[in-house]
Amino acid sequence: MTTLDLDDARRRYEKAIAPEDFERLPFYTALLHRLRDDRTALELLASVRVEQRNPMLVLAILHWLALRGHPVLGPLYDDVRRGVPVDADEAARVVLVVLREDTALVSRELGRSTQTNEPGRSALLQAVIADLARGRARVNLVEVGCSAGINLHLDRFAVSADPSTDPLTLTCQDVTGPLERTLPTIARRVGIDPRPLQLSDQDDQLWLKACLWPEDRHRLERLDAIIEAWPAWSPIEVLRGTARERLADALQQTSDDFTIIVNTWVLFYLSPEERAWFLTAAHDAARAGNVATVSIESPLVDIAGIASDQRAHEAGASRIVVAREFADPELWGWCHPHGRWIEKSTA
Ligand SMILES: C[S@@+](CC[C@H](N)C(=O)[O-])C[C@H]1O[C@@H](n2cnc3c(N)ncnc32)[C@H](O)[C@@H]1O
Repeated sequence: MTTLDLDDARRRYEKAIAPEDFERLPFYTALLHRLRDDRTALELLASVRVEQRNPMLVLAILHWLALRGHPVLGPLYDDVRRGVPVDADEAARVVLVVLREDTALVSRELGRSTQTNEPGRSALLQAVIADLARGRARVNLVEVGCSAGINLHLDRFAVSADPSTDPLTLTCQDVTGPLERTLPTIARRVGIDPRPLQLSDQDDQLWLKACLWPEDRHRLERLDAIIEAWPAWSPIEVLRGTARERLADALQQTSDDFTIIVNTWVLFYLSPEERAWFLTAAHDAARAGNVATVSIESPLVDIAGIASDQRAHEAGASRIVVAREFADPELWGWCHPHGRWIEKSTA
């Protein structure tokens, strides 16, 4: 029998959201505190396969049960989603009672995967890809871990520093001054995912919504707007399989043009071996030419030649690393995990 690492699970609940988000997410902050302090919740998370041992999976399953009409969770999450004032700690307590009284409700869904497809990252990708593709008329994109492929449509979103009432306008602060976001024509958009989600499928839509945070009403409204808008967008090609299984196929399909390989919040879900293989393969492809890469991940993901940064991790920032054509990987900058701000390194 394997021993569950409850201390590790506790740390994961503790670090699940960036401290800068605590104030605007009182319910999820209170819920994560309750989960962190509860043995059943620790055991649930600790029992998940290591590459999916992410508190977001437990949160998404609870949200999914609510969206499917659970008699207690349904009305409670509905109030939170609609912005009805709730006592966050009391709401979190009630969720924990449900979890403890019927743990199987959650445990039988733990085989799922966290597949949050965050369009806010398109604001980040626009800035980084505009830089990597400067001077080129056309590029191809290959996104590893594309989920429903929303960020393969990055050029469909406007970006503004100020909040907008248009759900397809992303809000992103360019901390180091306004960044160029003019993109070349995107010729091919190829995604890779072992469990690709379809924006046209109702079960997949529900899971995509469940992976969002109920207090983030704006993100839920944006997903609804994307679900409505995407049929008019240019089609993407999705290769089912892991990075290791499909990267070569994707690069072969896109070899006619300069290609940018993208990974955003994916590498934690790969085994250490697959992660090392993928980073080597992607960076070697850039060194060989006709390819560049952009990686937006936690600074805890080791990338050879890039210094790790514990302070940025504590603050919940994500690290942007690129490999330009014929070059080694370099630090491009830092950002909020959902694209609320971006900072370009000056070095
Ligand atoms: C947290 S989601 C991120 C989705 C998207 N990149 C984004 O930023 O919105 C992680 C995605 O990686 C996929 N994934 C998990 N293991 C993978 C692997 N071995 N190779 C490629 N993708 C993988 C999951 O199915 C999931 O859709």
